[in-house]
Amino acid sequence: MLNNFAYIRSSGMYVPDRIVRNEDLPAELETDDEWIRPRTGVEERRYAKPNEKTSDLAKKAVENLLEKGEVPAEAIDCVIFATLSPDVFFPGCGVLLQEKLGWADGHIPCYDIRQQCSGFVYGLQMAQAFIEAGIYENILLIGAEVHSNVLEFSKRGRAVTVLFGDGAAAVVISRSMADESRILLTEIHADGAGAFNGIHMKLFDIGKKPLVYYDPYDIEANRDMYPDMPSSKNLFTNAVRRMAEVSASVLGRLGISVNDVDWVLPHQANVRINRMSAELLDIPEDKVLYNIHKFGNTTAATIPLLLDEFTENGTIKRGDLLLMPAFGSGFTWGATVLYY
Ligand code: UT7
Repeated sequence: MLNNFAYIRSSGMYVPDRIVRNEDLPAELETDDEWIRPRTGVEERRYAKPNEKTSDLAKKAVENLLEKGEVPAEAIDCVIFATLSPDVFFPGCGVLLQEKLGWADGHIPCYDIRQQCSGFVYGLQMAQAFIEAGIYENILLIGAEVHSNVLEFSKRGRAVTVLFGDGAAAVVISRSMADESRILLTEIHADGAGAFNGIHMKLFDIGKKPLVYYDPYDIEANRDMYPDMPSSKNLFTNAVRRMAEVSASVLGRLGISVNDVDWVLPHQANVRINRMSAELLDIPEDKVLYNIHKFGNTTAATIPLLLDEFTENGTIKRGDLLLMPAFGSGFTWGATVLYY
């Protein structure tokens, strides 16, 4: 008899070719590598080409996954797409990706989820629940973002702009017959009181006509066109505290000691957040994986990008115990523990 365990069966990633180093950022930002690197850990990020959309990046990540031959495309029976930068207001990126992959014949349902930097762990919980309930067998979970087109390239926007990059990564979560590789538990949280004092982008107000009012020459009127982070320090301290808290909670519920964790794959918002969080948890720094220096914060894509990179280079092996904590806009946060 089959057990309904869920495990991460395969992964793939795509980042645009265009590398933007801290030194390459436009002079209007009035920033430099000396400010950015020690405060954030970011050295460079990738920017998509003009007209390249979030679903295009996602498609390339899925193609990379499928090329590995670990899952046949025909086996995928559900899509969950996590992004804060969808191609358009609606419909969601799930169906747009499905159509681009040539799978739009009606047999694969598509979900879009909007949990920002926590999108991937929220998606993992959904996927595990679906599989363990026997509803689907092979779920494609994607985290993808094109941030570069919405960042504000001015001094006002610099605190946000220097942090973010574009990228996409995908995993397939499948039903497993053995329990050596399985998702153990995801715990997720949200606190809407932080919705507009953390990081957010209004762009429009559904309660107002016109929906969008924009005057490019009026600095206040154009404020809503860009991401805003009114209290970056509050966001920082919440991220440190919440990621440590939820990690301790999920490990505690499983009766697993931090010493048993082989690798931590934290959301990549700021290298200092992850160091402080690991210190609170008493996890040695050399167990905490990073790629923020190369890609910046790619929001929903950070954790699957780490997973794909560090499984491909042989660091993470089958059977390793992984901890994946995330925190982001909303506020939303959570952590997953799994045997890879
Ligand atoms: O994915 C989850 C969401 N994102 C986060 O969790 C981000 C959390 N926050 C952070 O990572 C950090 O708070 C930042 C990296 C954004 C800022 O670092 P900080 O050490 O907290 O700097 P700060 O906000 O205290 O700013 C210090 C100064 C300010 O100037 P004044 O007011 O002291 O004159 C800023 O205007 O640094 C200025 N500043 C910059 N200067 C050069 C802010 N951004 C920049 C910049 N380059 N890019």
